[in-house]
Amino acid sequence: MLIQGLLAVSLVLAGSPAATTQAKIDCAKVKCLALTFDDGPGTRTPALLDLFKKERVKATFFLVGKQVERHPSIARRAAAEGHAIGNHTYSHPSLPTRFDEDILNELQVTQEIIQAATGQAPKMFRPPFGHTDDRVLELANQAELAQVLWTGTTLDWSLRDAKKIKASVLRLAKRNGVLLMHDTVPQTVKAMPGIVNELKKRGYHLVTVPTLLRGKGLESGVSYP
Ligand code: NI
Repeated sequence: MLIQGLLAVSLVLAGSPAATTQAKIDCAKVKCLALTFDDGPGTRTPALLDLFKKERVKATFFLVGKQVERHPSIARRAAAEGHAIGNHTYSHPSLPTRFDEDILNELQVTQEIIQAATGQAPKMFRPPFGHTDDRVLELANQAELAQVLWTGTTLDWSLRDAKKIKASVLRLAKRNGVLLMHDTVPQTVKAMPGIVNELKKRGYHLVTVPTLLRGKGLESGVSYP
């Protein structure tokens, strides 16, 4: 029953105006790139959302359950404005070091917290630190989650310099790429207006991960991209 309820909610949201704006973008025909942000929501996330709204950009946020408990209204706003929401566990552990039940708990508790905040349970998760293995993937399948990794990591958390982060994004940008950043890194938020501007100049359509994968779907227990 719970699962059916969740599916019904996500189908309703998939038909919302914010979501349909992106449905018109066909990444088979145009040059697409997905910007993804992990570890939020945080106090700097609203500045990113303001920028994305102004620039008509959609992004993907992999949220930490503990952070959603602190900032539920920011998570709600991101989902309502048409950004894709993923699960990034409750407490951000390295999953392969944990027992099965702990891993499932990290994922399922976060599903519930995000569902409560946004009205929508995620269909995808990203393992903290990118640490994963076949066991984690199978447990994610039990939680009805697809795994989403990346094609390029900007290392923004280590660079901590807006100019260097911008250069890193532009170096890693490629058609159908998925770039990993953090909305918890202030310099990333600071660099974003310049990044969006330059990527648009280079002809990129900035889309969510589900938009990028459209046609291939987003199957639980499967790792993307
Ligand atoms: Ni993380």
